Amino acid sequence: MNARASSDADLTLTARERMLRRLHRRRPATALERDFYLSAEDYRIDLDMIWYRDWLFVGHDCEIPNSGNFMTVQIGEYPILVVRDREGSLHAFHNSCRHRGSRICSAEHGTSPRLVCPYHQWTYGLDGRLLAARDMGASFDKSQFNLKPVHCASMGGYIWVCLAQAAPDFERVRLELEPYFAPHRLHEAKVAFEYTMVENANWKLVWENNRECYHCTANHPELIRTFPEDPTITGVDGASNNPRIAARWAHWESIGLPSTFHISADGQYRATRYPLVEGATSFTMDGTPAVRRALSDAIREPDTGSLLLFHFPTTWNHVMADHATTFRLLPLSPTTTQLTTKWLVHKDAVEGVDYDVQRLTEVWKATNEADRRVCQENQLGVNSPAYDPAPYSTVHEDGVAQFTDWYCKRLEERLSDDAG
Ligand code: FES
Ligand SMILES: [Fe+2]
Repeated sequence: MNARASSDADLTLTARERMLRRLHRRRPATALERDFYLSAEDYRIDLDMIWYRDWLFVGHDCEIPNSGNFMTVQIGEYPILVVRDREGSLHAFHNSCRHRGSRICSAEHGTSPRLVCPYHQWTYGLDGRLLAARDMGASFDKSQFNLKPVHCASMGGYIWVCLAQAAPDFERVRLELEPYFAPHRLHEAKVAFEYTMVENANWKLVWENNRECYHCTANHPELIRTFPEDPTITGVDGASNNPRIAARWAHWESIGLPSTFHISADGQYRATRYPLVEGATSFTMDGTPAVRRALSDAIREPDTGSLLLFHFPTTWNHVMADHATTFRLLPLSPTTTQLTTKWLVHKDAVEGVDYDVQRLTEVWKATNEADRRVCQENQLGVNSPAYDPAPYSTVHEDGVAQFTDWYCKRLEERLSDDAG
C-alpha cells in the first residue's frame, strides 16, 4: 500500500489506531512511511508517547553549578525550569506560575536567590515552594500553590528531565552509562561555545541522518579528516572483531576508561569509545587537539578517541581527551527541529590562550550545516506523495534501522498499552 492510500484509508479510526496499523504492517529494515515525517497527528502522538514520557537531556551540570543558577528549556508545549538549590540539589519545575500561568523565567540561563514571577510577583523558593503571594486574602493557602515538579536527574555531567507522571527507571541508565563518563568530569567543565539552529525537518529525519555515515564522503569533507567512516561506528555491531579497535579498547580499559560497546536492552542508548583516524586525537581540521589543557584532570592519556553516546530522543555526543561536543535535539513542529550544540572544555582553560573558538568549533559547525542541508532536502522529498520507502543499506544503515526499530517498538508498546 502506498503512503497516500494509507493516510486516506480508514478515516473512521482514530489517529492512534491508524498509526498502530502502520506500525503493524511495517516492513523490516525499511524507511518509514510518509505520514510519520509530516502529519500533525503523528507529531502529536510522538509528543505524547515519546517526548512527554521518556527521559530527556536538557543541559549540563556545569552550566548551573551554583545555588540559584537556573536554565530553561521548551519541550513541546511545556516550558521547563531547572534550578540548583542552596544544598546543591537540582530541581525541575513546570515554568508556569501557579497564579495565572505566566512563565516565571524567560532567560535561557540566569541566577536568582528566589523565583519571582514577573507578572504579579508571586515568589517561589528554589525548591518550588510558594513563599509569598501578595494580597490573596486570609483564606489563601500558599501550600497548595507550589510549582509543579518535573522529574530531574543528573548523570555524568548531563542533566535529564522527564515529564511523565511516573518516570521510567533512571537508575539503570546511570548504572550503565556513568562509568563511561565519570573519568571525563564533565560536571566540572565549562561551555566554551554553544549555538542553536533550526532544521526544517522532522526530528526523526535528523536522527536517521545522525545514525549513518553513508552520507559522510559526499557531504562532510571536514569531518572525515578525523572521523572514521567505518559503518560499525554508527551501526549496532560492536566492532570487537576490528583488531585496531580491540587493541585500543584493551589499552583504554587498562587505564580505567570504559570503552567497549554497550547498548541498552531496549536500544534507547549506547556508549562506546572509538579511535579517530590514525594520528588524529580530536575533531579539528588537522586532527591535533583544539584545547591545550586536557578536559579532565583525571585523564593524562592524550588520545582517548571519542566516547560516543546516543540516547534517544534527545542527544548524541563525542567526548575526547581535550574537549567534548554535545548535541541536544528538540522537536518544534512536525517538520522543524531545534539542534543545540555545545563545546565543553576544562573549566580553567582560557580562550585565546588554551583554545581558539573558531578552531574548536569549525569541524562540527560545518558538519551541522551540511547535515541541516541534507535533512531539509530529505524532508522536501519525503513531503512528496510520490515518496515510497526503500530498504536501508545493509552495510551502512544498521544504525538507522536500529533507531527506527526503537521508535516503532516504543510507539507500538505504548499505543497498545494505552488502548488497553
Ligand atoms: S501569573 Fe505569576 S504572579 Fe500572576
Ligand atoms: Fe552528517
